[in-house]
Amino acid sequence: MDRRTGLQGAKRKWACAMAVGIALFSFHQAGWSEVTPAVAGADAPVIDKAEADGIIFERQQVMLRLDKDAKTLGMIAAGSAPASKLAETTRSIAEAARDSVAAFETVAPGGRSKPEVWSNHPDYMRALRDFAVKAEAMAKAGQGGDVNAVTGLMIDAMPCKQCHDRYRAPKTS
Ligand code: HEC
Repeated sequence: MDRRTGLQGAKRKWACAMAVGIALFSFHQAGWSEVTPAVAGADAPVIDKAEADGIIFERQQVMLRLDKDAKTLGMIAAGSAPASKLAETTRSIAEAARDSVAAFETVAPGGRSKPEVWSNHPDYMRALRDFAVKAEAMAKAGQGGDVNAVTGLMIDAMPCKQCHDRYRAPKTS
């Protein structure tokens, strides 16, 4: 290494150290004080109460849509609703499952979400993403109207109770 590149290298290292220093300094300045103490996620954005209420309402709407579609699908599987509804119902479940991922991305404790949703947020989000992937596979199977194919995938593609047992609080009223 000649003297010039050595000097440039040293300059680069210095610039790098400065950047890290500035980042650490501004992190320290912002601190965690802006974030609600109950909200521990490193990626937790700062949201106010009205915004949180809107987010909670929206994710409950997504869940209600899932509930309605899951009931219809149960009826199709049981033969009490027409198989011609299979494609649109499984597609709707897949869309709502995908929406549920987005709906829970922002840390907003409340509603019937247990504290574990937020303290285990990465695990919780993984469960939702897995749900979305499997619901999508079920929708693909449902596209052709094959009820048996969908019935075979249903239990895996709809881990509703599994998740609720762990992450949803009981009704209070
Ligand atoms: C990975 C977790 C997870 C999965 C999977 C899941 N849910 Fe939920 N669900 C929740 C949580 C958490 C809540 C509470 C949300 C809140 O009140 O903020 C909830 C709430 C609900 C509610 C109550 C909505 C309301 O008005 O308060 C219904 C109904 C529901 N889910 C149905 C379903 C159905 C049906 C499925 C499957 C097709 C499903 N959920 C899959 C986590 C999940």
